[in-house]
Amino acid sequence: MRNFTFYNPTRLHFGAGQIARLSEEVPPGSRVLVTIGGGSIFQNGVWDEVEAALAGHHIQRFSGIEANPQFDTLLRALAMARDSGCDFILAVGGGSVIDGSKFLAAALPYSGDPLDLLTGRSIDAAVPLGCVLTLAATGSESNGRGVVSHAGRQEKLRFSSPLLIPRFAILDPRSTFSLPPRQIGNGVVDAFVHTLEQYLTFPADAPLQDRYAESLLRTLIEEGPKALAEPEDYTVRANLMLCANQAMNGLHGCGVPQDWSTHHLGQELATLYHIDHAQAMAVILPALLHERRAAKRDKLLQYAERVWGFNRGEADIRIDTALNATRDFFRRLRVPIRLSEHGLGAETVPQVLAQLERRGLTALGEQADLDLESCERILLNAL
Ligand code: NZQ
Ligand code: ZN
Repeated sequence: MRNFTFYNPTRLHFGAGQIARLSEEVPPGSRVLVTIGGGSIFQNGVWDEVEAALAGHHIQRFSGIEANPQFDTLLRALAMARDSGCDFILAVGGGSVIDGSKFLAAALPYSGDPLDLLTGRSIDAAVPLGCVLTLAATGSESNGRGVVSHAGRQEKLRFSSPLLIPRFAILDPRSTFSLPPRQIGNGVVDAFVHTLEQYLTFPADAPLQDRYAESLLRTLIEEGPKALAEPEDYTVRANLMLCANQAMNGLHGCGVPQDWSTHHLGQELATLYHIDHAQAMAVILPALLHERRAAKRDKLLQYAERVWGFNRGEADIRIDTALNATRDFFRRLRVPIRLSEHGLGAETVPQVLAQLERRGLTALGEQADLDLESCERILLNAL
């Protein structure tokens, strides 16, 4: 096992009715900017609970942080936050609202060009942030990462800092009952891929991390389709919400090699063709695992056996069967697995490759040996 440092200070309040905890979590006397998305929280009752819990606090609301939060939108939020003298940010929504709010938290105390914070400058200070999660998928509620879209640059820009890890996160599974089927499927796929990218590399003498990842994967496989069949089953939603959180809170990835190449390729695809984040991952992952089957052979066989129960027969057939089971799982979640299902053809391949090259993403994977030729084969295989 490799050396590691694990730091995750987010206090989780998990369960029905926990939004009321805001009254004790948001510091009294603070000037709070509440950031929200396009309005789903007004329909499902979440806003009413937030407003009730914050009675007596000084709050201002910024509405309209869209899916794949846009830099320009966030600049407007930043202006409002500055005008209001905001010293605490409360994000209420999915990964996009939370990521956008993390950017605000970093930009507020920064006197330079806010774009610097998305293009490599280290984040040295941040306004404290808390969140109420309404979509189980990204794990953004308890990690220090964020992704902001920049239309002019045609890029999704990543940033991260331990200063941006939310102080608290409220996870009430009931607030996910209102998710449309597409977002339910997306959420399960995103959590599944986050788990796999920290697991499916090569053996690293880390049986606990392996078994933790396998538990997450198996739970997602069992519970994911149930959420589509029974959208108001509390137990199912609770299990999925916890899985998505644990998939990306950094714990099971401690001390093991990681491979974020599905996210790198998928993110370029999502940016260029406006595909949902998780849907881009569902297209790339099976094709990428097929391409990397030699480098990942031992872990693919472990995945086939422990996650899918395929432990008999020739090794290559076990791997193929596990990859097919993964594709079938995504299909059961009603998430497309081919570029053609998004109306995309072979013309996408050179465009994505050019974008990868432009961004210097030419040596991906756990061994940094996934080059552009391999990426081309992956994209062709995903058509
Ligand atoms: O804006 P509203 O009206 O709330 O609608 C949203 C949005 O349209 C809707 N929604 C959210 N909660 C709902 C709901 N609709 C009904 N009922 C509810 N309870 O769902 C739509 C999608 O929301 P979004 O926040 O975009 O989805 P998600 O949580 O999947 O976040 C995706 C973003 O997170 C980034 C992605 O790149 C993408 O920009 N990621 C962030 C990561 C991180 N911070 O660690 C890691 C991920 O890999 C990912 O890159
Ligand atoms: Zn993701």
